[in-house]
Amino acid sequence: QTKMKTFLESIFLKNSIKSLIIVTGASLLFSSCAGNKLEKQIDFALNRSVNQYSYMMKQLPENRYPKTYFADKQKFETSKSDWWCSGFYPGTLIYLDESAKKPVFEKEINRVFQDLKKEQFNKTTHDLGFMMFCSFGNANRLNPTPEYAEILMNSAKSLASRFDEKVGCIKSWDAKDDSYLVIIDNMMNLELLFWASEYSGDKSYYDIAVKHANTTLKNHFRPDFSSYHVINYNSKTGEIKQKKTAQGYADESAWARGQSWGLYGYTVMYRATKDKKYLDQAVAIAEFILNHPNLPKDKVPYWDFNAPNIPDALRDSSAGAVIASALLELENYVDKTHSKKYAAAAKTIIQTLSSKEYLAEEGTNGGFILKHGVGHIPQKTEIDVPLTYGDYYFVEAMLRYKKQQTKH
Ligand code: GLY
Repeated sequence: QTKMKTFLESIFLKNSIKSLIIVTGASLLFSSCAGNKLEKQIDFALNRSVNQYSYMMKQLPENRYPKTYFADKQKFETSKSDWWCSGFYPGTLIYLDESAKKPVFEKEINRVFQDLKKEQFNKTTHDLGFMMFCSFGNANRLNPTPEYAEILMNSAKSLASRFDEKVGCIKSWDAKDDSYLVIIDNMMNLELLFWASEYSGDKSYYDIAVKHANTTLKNHFRPDFSSYHVINYNSKTGEIKQKKTAQGYADESAWARGQSWGLYGYTVMYRATKDKKYLDQAVAIAEFILNHPNLPKDKVPYWDFNAPNIPDALRDSSAGAVIASALLELENYVDKTHSKKYAAAAKTIIQTLSSKEYLAEEGTNGGFILKHGVGHIPQKTEIDVPLTYGDYYFVEAMLRYKKQQTKH
């Protein structure tokens, strides 16, 4: 009887091992197929992006920068170099060349730089990080030159000139009265200051970035780690006058792109300082976004997490792109469970954005890569349209994914 029992047990064990091998093999095969599928989808999307930007390049008037495209009026909207988005076009071209490993757009990038470089002295905007670091910063990362470094140092000086010690923040928007307006978006401009500090050895840039991030951490966030869009400080006392929105649905709502700027911004803060409080903040923001009941399954958010007409509200592809890119960096700084969660979410977003629903057909969409971005609903501008920053962060996310794909 004992022999029989041992015999039966050994058969059972063999079968269990067999099933385990089959199940593991199948799941490995499945996940590698799924991985390959996304890699192919990304290569397709990157190739499409090169063709789209080659097409867009031909439509762009001298010294103008892509803003958006209105399909119904077939209108390509552009801006001058002083608009906050001017750095995204050359930045996207640089990423596309980096990805193709050949200088397809080199001439165009240099042409744009000749006009854009004057913004290094612009002290009227806080957006110098977007404008100068996404452009000249990327160029300098790949090919450091004294000329790029000088432009970036002057840009950092201009940005730092907007810092006020009493408020503890860089001013986002100028105001006529004693208002001192700071928006969550401003977290994205700090990377330029970290670069300047490292390059020059002048710690004051580093200190300004840290003070700005600390004040923002203290005042911009709600207990659930969603953020206000705008904090209005009293410029004379530094006290808070108002917490409100400009581009979101309501003062108390969670404007999707604002959440994405915060997530990306605090991830960069951790990279630059290795201070754990910034990592905790980035994780808390990621958890707010990814656990939100209004985040769709495909993980491209509605333009505001509290938009009144969800599930019929518009999605914002640009917020999705920024979140994907940020998560692909954040996954490197957290434990295994979080890392898997963030990589999976980023993959889902990239998968969604590179699907037919979001990826523009060749020769359409004014040459922009992504459709369905939301610029400014309260102002009734740029609604359900392509956006230059959506394209930039989407291409950045795809590049980040490719660089890290052996991990996934
Ligand atoms: N305020 C910049 C943005 O639309 O995100």
